[in-house]
Amino acid sequence: MESVLVTGGAGYIGSHTCVALLEAGYEVAVLDSLANSSAAAVDAVAEIAGRRPRLDVVDCRDESAMEKVITEVRPDGVLHFAGLKSVPDSVADPLRYYRHNLESAAVLLSVMERCGVGKIVFSSSATVYGDPDVLPVPETASTRPGNPYGSTKLMVEQMIADVVSADSRWSAALLRYFNPVGAHPSGLIGEDPEGVPGNLMPYLLQVAVGRRPRLPLYGTDYPTPDGTARRDYIHVMDLADGHLAALEHLDSAPGQVQAYNLGTGQGTSVLEVVAAMRDASGHPLPYEELGRRPGDVPELWADPGKAHRELGWSATRTLAEMCRDAWDWQSSHPQGYRSRGLP
Ligand code: NAD
Ligand code: WQD
Repeated sequence: MESVLVTGGAGYIGSHTCVALLEAGYEVAVLDSLANSSAAAVDAVAEIAGRRPRLDVVDCRDESAMEKVITEVRPDGVLHFAGLKSVPDSVADPLRYYRHNLESAAVLLSVMERCGVGKIVFSSSATVYGDPDVLPVPETASTRPGNPYGSTKLMVEQMIADVVSADSRWSAALLRYFNPVGAHPSGLIGEDPEGVPGNLMPYLLQVAVGRRPRLPLYGTDYPTPDGTARRDYIHVMDLADGHLAALEHLDSAPGQVQAYNLGTGQGTSVLEVVAAMRDASGHPLPYEELGRRPGDVPELWADPGKAHRELGWSATRTLAEMCRDAWDWQSSHPQGYRSRGLP
C-alpha cells in the first residue's frame, strides 16, 4: 500500500498518525471538515515530517465532494478517524451523533465502493465494551456500549463487517482504542480540545499550565487499590504505529474484517496519572475530590494479545513518556494551536 486517505487527519489521533505515515514513506491525503480541529495541525505535521500532505476541507457526509477527492487521490486504503467523540454530548443529543457518525461512515463506504477502494481502518473505541465482565478485556468480550457515542462505534463496525462480507475484495481493521494520551515528542502537535476538557489528561495539562485551578477528581470510592478508577492509557504514537501495522496487514487479508484492541494491557488509576504528571511537569496539580461521574466504569483495560499476534504490534511507551511528551506540547503551546499565532 502506498497511498492513503486520512479522514479526520487534522484531529488529535489523525495528525499523529499522519506523521507516522509520512515518515514511513506513504503518500498521505488529509480530508477533514475542521469542525473540531485546525489546519495549523496539518502545518505542524508538515513541519515535523518535512513533507506536506494534501488537505481537503470536506465533510464526510458530502457525497459529491467525497467522490471528487477520492477520484483525485486514488488511495489504496482509507483511515477513517473523522467523527464526533464526546460521550456527554452524545447523551444530550443522541440523534446528532447517530446522524453524524453513521452518515459519515455510510457515505465514505459508498464512495469507496464506487471508486474501487476496498481497504479501511476504522477508529473504534473500547467504549463498545461498556462495563466488562472480565479484565483484561479481549475482543471476544460482549459489547454493550453505555452511551450513544459508543453505539455509533459499534454500528459502524457492523456496517463495515457487512460490506466486507458482501464483497470479498474488501478488507477492514476495526481498531478499538483504549485511552489515547501524550503527544509527538517534537512538542509540535498534541491534543487541543475546545472548551472545558472532558478527559483526564487534557484537563490535568490545563491545570499544570495555569488555565484551570484544580482537577475535579471523579470518584474516590471505587473498589480499586487507591479508590480511583483505572484505565488503559496509551501513548498516541504507539496508537499511530498500530495503524501502520493494521494497514500493512490489510494487504494480506482480503475478505477479512477483524477487531483489534489497541491498549497497553495495564490499568492505571486516576491518582497514578496525577502523580506521573506532577513528576513530568513539576507543578503541584491540586485536585478536588468529587463523586463518581455518571456512566464511568470502575476499571477497563485491554488484552492486546490479538494485535500482537496478528499485526505484530505492541505498545512500548511508558506512562512517564506519555506525560513528558504531553507536557512538552502543552507547555510550549499553552493555548493549543492558537499559540502558533493563528486564529
Ligand atoms: P478529534 O476530534 O481530535 O478528531 C476528529 C477529526 O474529525 C477532527 O479533526 C474533526 O474536525 C474531524 N471531523 C469530524 N466530523 C467530520 C466529518 N463529518 N467530516 C470530516 N471531518 C470530520 O478526535 P480524536 O481524538 O483524534 O479521535 C479520532 C477518532 O478516534 C474518532 O473517530 C474518535 O471517536 C476515535 N476515538 C477517540 C478516542 C479518544 O479518546 N481520543 C478514543 C477512542 C476512539
Ligand atoms: C478517565 C478517568 C474519570 C476527567 C473516554 C471515553 C471513551 C474514549 C476515551 C472515545 C475516569 C476521571 C476524568 C476529569 C476525572 N473516547 N476524570 N476528572 O471516560 O475512560 O474514556 O475517553 O472513544 O469513549 O468515555 O476517559 O479521560 O474521560 O476519564 O477524575 O476531569 O479520569 O472519571 O475515571 P474515559 P477520561
